[in-house]
Amino acid sequence: MSCFPCLRPRVNEDSSKVASISVNSEVNTLQDGSTASPRGLPPKAVGALSFTMAELNRMTSNFSESHKIGQGGFGSVYQGKLHDGRLVAIKRAKKTRVSTEFENEVNMLSQVEHLNLVKLIGYLEEGDERILVTEYVTNGNLRRHLDVILDMSTRLDIAIDIAHALTYLHYYTDRPIIHRDVKSSNILLTESNRAKVADFGFSRAGPSELGSTHVSTQVKGTAGYLDPEYLTTYQLNVKSDVYSFGILLIELFTGRRPIEINRPSDERVTVRWAFTKFVDGKLRHILDPNIRKTATVMAILPGLFELAISCVAPSKTERPNMKEVQESLWNIRKAYQAALNHQRENQIEKQESADLESVRSPRNGGSERADSAKPRRSEDRESSRFRSSRLSESETVRPASSQSGSEKTESGRSRRQSESESTRNHRLNGSPESPDLCSPHNDRPLDALHDP
Ligand SMILES: Nc1ncnc2c1ncn2[C@@H]1O[C@H](COP(=O)(O)OP(=O)(O)O)[C@@H](O)[C@H]1O
Ligand SMILES: [Mg+2]
Repeated sequence: MSCFPCLRPRVNEDSSKVASISVNSEVNTLQDGSTASPRGLPPKAVGALSFTMAELNRMTSNFSESHKIGQGGFGSVYQGKLHDGRLVAIKRAKKTRVSTEFENEVNMLSQVEHLNLVKLIGYLEEGDERILVTEYVTNGNLRRHLDVILDMSTRLDIAIDIAHALTYLHYYTDRPIIHRDVKSSNILLTESNRAKVADFGFSRAGPSELGSTHVSTQVKGTAGYLDPEYLTTYQLNVKSDVYSFGILLIELFTGRRPIEINRPSDERVTVRWAFTKFVDGKLRHILDPNIRKTATVMAILPGLFELAISCVAPSKTERPNMKEVQESLWNIRKAYQAALNHQRENQIEKQESADLESVRSPRNGGSERADSAKPRRSEDRESSRFRSSRLSESETVRPASSQSGSEKTESGRSRRQSESESTRNHRLNGSPESPDLCSPHNDRPLDALHDP
């Protein structure tokens, strides 16, 4: 375990959100000497509406409990309705909360636009009130869903959506944006379980100059998701988001929070526990008990795990970038869908043979019926093939159509190179398990921890 990140979570009283570890004051100059983006709201937060307190009171029935949909370190979130009928989320800062988070969130959200990012509608800044209005995302946060049930396909789609959002933030905005608080409660799900990254309170502009790799700044983030290198050096880089994403990926397929304080000590830090299982050749034990351990799921688990482990490499230089991560995820999802299709075809063929056997048997009417059954069976096969090709088609089409330039990826060669490097660095003595169809369901009940 020597190559493993040293995780020393710092948890404050009511939440694990590390508002700021004030060992180092905020440095607004970059490593290369240039200045970071100025504080304060942009002169015109593009397209953002400005609300009055009276309007917001009306929309939320005076911020009543019945309108409340969420709670975070920053404040409470309420649902409201605009005059045009659109539903919105209204985030009201605690009076005690310093306003930089609010300004940050308005600033960043007004600069970005992506299908997988929550959309800014408007805001209010009046006296000591700081209120942010964003599009309402129907299915709430990802963490809540992991506590109930989500199939593997949906989990993969969610991981890819988040990877798209982060790739866009890191590579396709005027200046790289580092989210700094990538975690399951900051991922919102739409009606159709598409993911949107929210909560830009801690986000920060990355280095602007070519060649500069980081900004020096005080540490902000959430315990368990926080990049240990940033924690010790105060050097923030896009790869800090990659680290958090790796932790989130492990959460996605284990169902466990990064830190599980109510578990035995060797299971409290999920990434360590999972890594130990991997080294011991027991990777199947880390799978969320809510996911069926089918052959197809077990076949992609080693690849998913290795990807997650490469993201949480101790040093940023060893971690893949988000473009590479999204490309790996596409490949994993493609393999998963292909295996599912293959499985379906096999099932249909087995069914066909069974049908044929039963109609051929003299007791069931003999060969005439067997002949009449033939055309229908081949139609079934055709329609199954059609379904398969549709699925694989959607696999290749979806990334290209989903958003902006974020899908343009670096060459396959460099990806393969860094992939094999990361695999070399992180694959320890234990080899990944081979898929095990018959593994017993040897798992835990769902934990009862609550997210901050
Ligand atoms: N736009 C939204 N649509 C639906 N629910 C939301 C929305 N924004 C926030 N929430 C809910 O409120 C919670 C806290 O919101 P968040 O923006 O993360 O606040 P904080 O900065 O206080 O952590 C989220 O985890 C989610 O459950
Ligand atoms: Mg939050």
